[in-house]
Amino acid sequence: MDNYLKVIKILKENQDKFISGEKIAKMCGISRVGVYKIIKKLISEGYEIKKNKKLGYKLLFSAFSPEDILKKNLSIVSKIYHFKKTSSTMDVAKKILDETPNIENVLIIADIQTSGKGRLQRKWFSPKGGLYFSLILKPQISPNIVFNLNYLFSLSIAEVLRENYNISATTKWPNDVVVEDKKISGILIEIDTEIDKLNWCIVGVGVNLNINKEFFIKNKLQATSVLELTNKKVDINEFLSKLLEKIDLYYKDFIKNEYKQIIEKWSKISSTLGREVEIITLTTKIKGKAIKLQQDTGALLVETPSGIKEVLSGDCVHLR
Ligand code: BTN
Repeated sequence: MDNYLKVIKILKENQDKFISGEKIAKMCGISRVGVYKIIKKLISEGYEIKKNKKLGYKLLFSAFSPEDILKKNLSIVSKIYHFKKTSSTMDVAKKILDETPNIENVLIIADIQTSGKGRLQRKWFSPKGGLYFSLILKPQISPNIVFNLNYLFSLSIAEVLRENYNISATTKWPNDVVVEDKKISGILIEIDTEIDKLNWCIVGVGVNLNINKEFFIKNKLQATSVLELTNKKVDINEFLSKLLEKIDLYYKDFIKNEYKQIIEKWSKISSTLGREVEIITLTTKIKGKAIKLQQDTGALLVETPSGIKEVLSGDCVHLR
């Protein structure tokens, strides 16, 4: 392990405690100046480290570290690109695919996006503190069932929030994660298909982690964050590791065309099913009661006065 990684490891093992530069230097077998230089680099990368002349260094908050993710050996991540700031990880993903068409299982992550994209041409606010990533995947499946990826991802996010942060996150059709009608996460999927073949898909995920309430108020957003709900800062590496592990697990079912578990679990924690909704598609508006998801295609069944309608895309408004 190189000295840079050794220093991170030592600081993490002593998180929230001071450890002297001399001690770190000894443990790594380098000089105190060497330690100082590494600490300076870490701070420039976004680590929050408190310095004290007498006591040394105290790690308060870790920046994103690709090593933590890569060492998990997940089947969906073989390469990582990390940006401190970029326009949108979706655009970067497309550029990577243009330049290296054979690439897959690539994770592109950014600390800040200057023109984050949401569904239906909306903007995705992406200040520092949120989690923003895109994943390039090439599942060998028919394009007809790619819609189920929405459920796989939103279920995974909601479960990580519920299981590890005690947040009662629910899934909102088609692919939002909300807490009491406030959005905490959104997913954007872009695909490239031929008649019966899916060439690639890029799944973009945004999760409001360490964003304060004032930001949502200032920008008039009906949104919330883990920080607002728990009053604690989330370690981005920990969150992302847990999330990617979950996605990896469900993805194994997904590529075998097995969606039963994903759909059932998504439905159990859904705030849409059983509710009066209005689905706005490109061509129509459908009003009725959201009943259930179709197991195979993932279509939403809506009971309307003129019969049951199947919907595969659109914007969903919860009415009651
Ligand atoms: C939505 O709910 O409207 C979808 C939001 C998707 C946001 C993510 S953040 C990472 C990736 N890059 C983008 O520009 N958008 C997606």
